Amino acid sequence: MIYPAEPFRIKSVETVSMIPRDERLKKMEEAGLNTFLLNSKDVYIDLLTDSGTNAMSDKQWAGMMMGDEAYAGSVNFYHLEATVRELFGFKHIVPTHQGRGAENLLSQLAIKPGQYVAGNMYFTTTRYHQEKNGASFVDIVCDEAHDATLNVPFKGNIDLNKLQKLIDEKGAKNIAYICLAVTVNLAGGQPVSMENMRAVRELTSAHGIKVYYDATRCVENAYYIKELEKGFENKSIKEIVHEMFSYADGCTMSGKKDCLVNIGGFLCMNDDDLFSQARELVVVYEGMPSYGGLAGRDMEAMAIGLREAMQFEYIEHRIKQVRYLGDKLKAAGVPIVEPVGGHAVFLDARRFCPHLSQEEFPAQSLAASIYVETGVRSMERGIISAGRNKETGEHHKPKLETVRLTIPRRVYTYAHMDVVADGIIQLYKHKEDIRGLRFTYEPKQLRFFTARFEYI
Ligand SMILES: Cc1ncc(COP(=O)(O)O)c(C=O)c1O
Repeated sequence: MIYPAEPFRIKSVETVSMIPRDERLKKMEEAGLNTFLLNSKDVYIDLLTDSGTNAMSDKQWAGMMMGDEAYAGSVNFYHLEATVRELFGFKHIVPTHQGRGAENLLSQLAIKPGQYVAGNMYFTTTRYHQEKNGASFVDIVCDEAHDATLNVPFKGNIDLNKLQKLIDEKGAKNIAYICLAVTVNLAGGQPVSMENMRAVRELTSAHGIKVYYDATRCVENAYYIKELEKGFENKSIKEIVHEMFSYADGCTMSGKKDCLVNIGGFLCMNDDDLFSQARELVVVYEGMPSYGGLAGRDMEAMAIGLREAMQFEYIEHRIKQVRYLGDKLKAAGVPIVEPVGGHAVFLDARRFCPHLSQEEFPAQSLAASIYVETGVRSMERGIISAGRNKETGEHHKPKLETVRLTIPRRVYTYAHMDVVADGIIQLYKHKEDIRGLRFTYEPKQLRFFTARFEYI
């Protein structure tokens, strides 16, 4: 079975409908050609993000009713703590309202101004917090990750030579920690191999450098290890996830992805002192260490969701549904980032719009055109998301200039994927009509969320 059927049946439905093309054009212009600024009621199929857009199971909804909304010491916190300890193997957990809450705590506590943080490609909010706390971010992902056309496994791997070079040049004590993302969102959802995680652990241990994972899509990463890496075919997803984290000192987690919930996150660590400091700091930004900005019911749903995500039938369908969309687009000649990653299909805007330069924001414009043509909402992951260099003020110019078609978990069917593919294939036939953009409003940080544009 290449594309397995949904391993669930649908108990509650949400109606979607498509507004006419001329209205979509008007809505897109009113939104400053930024898909983040559209009203969701005007969107037919919403592939803006997989973050917090998951459909929860009957068991999670039942768990919501078991929410213990005590200000301190909620039973749901203890359930979440026990679940994360068992599945991830870390000693301590601090809940946060979402992933960036955990990034904020870790960056404040683990970075001294002037230090370096190295990672397998940047992520927007993660790098923001690292830089805000005085670090310089160094990308040490393997070169393959930057090439959209290269179809090789584990493009999320860290290049060990780049890591060694950084240690030699800057000195281990000047490296705050390594931030290893499983999977790498901006590379196209590309996974990291177990072999690479082990090697990173060995090298960093030899120099006393800490490694914190961005665990956001760790279950998706584990599926790839089972599918592609020798020796893991017969291991369960749970065993693989556990081994992955055995090579880390802790992690930040956006529960809004692989915990199958709509809100939540947490920070984990083994170090007792760091835990003690995180407990002190979390009360400033999130709330008591036993709720961290979440309702008791949210923590319950997250504990149940994380366990559900480890079920093989769930994760196999998840990965293969995304792959189905990618395969369809590729078969029609639409340029995508290869191989297809875990949470999204990324259109390669450089090849989709070869008539536009990167400074004309091809991916931003392509995302706007996709909405107008198809009613499907996607997002830019290219020069706009990359922002500006904090020293020079120049645009970061990533090699990957992409539009992300992000698939929410357990929400859409293969028929929805067909509609998305057919619409984009149609648009590709008159791609020359996609025009370049310029800013009319450029926010100072994380500009992709709220920027506005006009056609040149
Ligand atoms: C790889 C990665 N890290 C961190 C985050 C931040 O998580 P959150 O949106 O829950 O703050 C995200 C969210 O999109 C992500 O994809």
